Amino acid sequence: MENMKFLSDKPLYITDTILRDAHQSQAATRMRIEDMLPACEILDSVGYWSLECWGGATFDSCMRFLKEDPWERLRALRKAIPNTKLQMLFRGQNILGYKHYADDVVDAFCRKSIENGIDIIRIFDALNDVRNLEQAIKSTKKYGGMVEATLSYTISPIHSEEYFVKLAQELEQMGADVICVKDMANLLLPMDAYSLIKRLKETVNVPIHLHTHNTSGTGDMVYLMAAYAGVDIVDTALSPMANGTAQPSTESLVATLQGTVRDTKLDMGKMSDAAAHFRKVAQRLKDTGSLDPKVLNVDTNTLLYQVPGGMLSNLISQLKQANKEDQYYEVLAEIPRVRKDFGYPPLVTPSSQIVGTQAVMNVIMGERYKVFPKESKAMLKGEYGTLPGEVNEEVRAKAGIKPETVITCRPADLLEPEIEKYRTQYADIAKSDEDVLSLALFPQVAPDFLKWRDDPNHEKPVDEVVKPAAPKQEAPKPAPKQAEPEIRELIVEYKG
Ligand code: CO
Repeated sequence: MENMKFLSDKPLYITDTILRDAHQSQAATRMRIEDMLPACEILDSVGYWSLECWGGATFDSCMRFLKEDPWERLRALRKAIPNTKLQMLFRGQNILGYKHYADDVVDAFCRKSIENGIDIIRIFDALNDVRNLEQAIKSTKKYGGMVEATLSYTISPIHSEEYFVKLAQELEQMGADVICVKDMANLLLPMDAYSLIKRLKETVNVPIHLHTHNTSGTGDMVYLMAAYAGVDIVDTALSPMANGTAQPSTESLVATLQGTVRDTKLDMGKMSDAAAHFRKVAQRLKDTGSLDPKVLNVDTNTLLYQVPGGMLSNLISQLKQANKEDQYYEVLAEIPRVRKDFGYPPLVTPSSQIVGTQAVMNVIMGERYKVFPKESKAMLKGEYGTLPGEVNEEVRAKAGIKPETVITCRPADLLEPEIEKYRTQYADIAKSDEDVLSLALFPQVAPDFLKWRDDPNHEKPVDEVVKPAAPKQEAPKPAPKQAEPEIRELIVEYKG
């Protein structure tokens, strides 16, 4: 140990993801508010820096599968957790949806999130186009929230350490209170984590928050090396839903650092009580088939193919639906090629879905780029922002996009204010501004949900019990009517 020295002497702060990313990554975001509330008082007393509990896929999942009002969930959590900061995940100009929204919608969403109880908003953009973070950063600050501006970590010839350091400086100048390194795919290796965090600590003044998963089995080592390099905050999950596709376990890291200068000072006894509760929840999720124990295995394909673990399981289900399971490895090999043609976007929602689906199409159609889903075209046209690297112009031409029509301005500058339009459109079903936002983000799901919610005779859904061996699947959807395949029809759900 003599050679290893901590580059910080402050306690390491912990964000626990048990209420959001842990079950999003392991159990298709199926944890319900009833699973959370009994443990909130203990969680609130552990001493966490924050609890991640909202945003990401939880909003969609609440309405689509659990018949819960996501806003009501947030208010209930805030009431039950009065002392610990509550944190959410926010996709920049996409908010929690899959397309770009106008600035006034982004502003209203930040405002309502904070009013209903959120303290910290982690804002990321799939392409690391900082213009897509501008409005969310501005609005979060305007309504008194803390901004965690995020680097979507990936590996490519473009994404060097230098690239991320420069990006962090830019985000600090834009007003970030904290910089988050979001390693959604567990690609950041321990030694690289040490080097990157050390550089970031030397370059920016705001705290650095590291987020990884344990998909490829390196997560604990990543956090230990980052702790040595002086990282300020890390994301872990309480042990009952830790590891595998979720975060490394909180208790293991807390115990590891006990007695060092970076001792987290978190209460192991209280965490043990909270874990006793979530073990029961995890068991229920296993019994109903939402938590497939396979996600707990170490999956080193992530290291080989640089594809997020959740994306792999999704590809398998897409190929199964098309009866083309035998082409799995061809698709795996095609993903990096599509990614290169598209200018190396990091693979995170929604770019992971777009690149993954394009790769599946290229393989199962027997000809590359015979078909372009409309989201692929939108991405090549610049509708999601500037792609990090150079786009293959031949591919862009095949998609029918002329170079001169590619969008180079901030994509949201092309959008007129939308919130009044949504308010009018949904006047008959929206009961609040929160409802208007739910409808704006999820027009396919929210109308039915709100009708159900406001029906005094509605029945609570019972858990559909899936046989443990059955593959994870959503309810069958009607066949798409449009000529072009739609990402949402093809893709079930990726994790991130
Ligand atoms: Co994550």
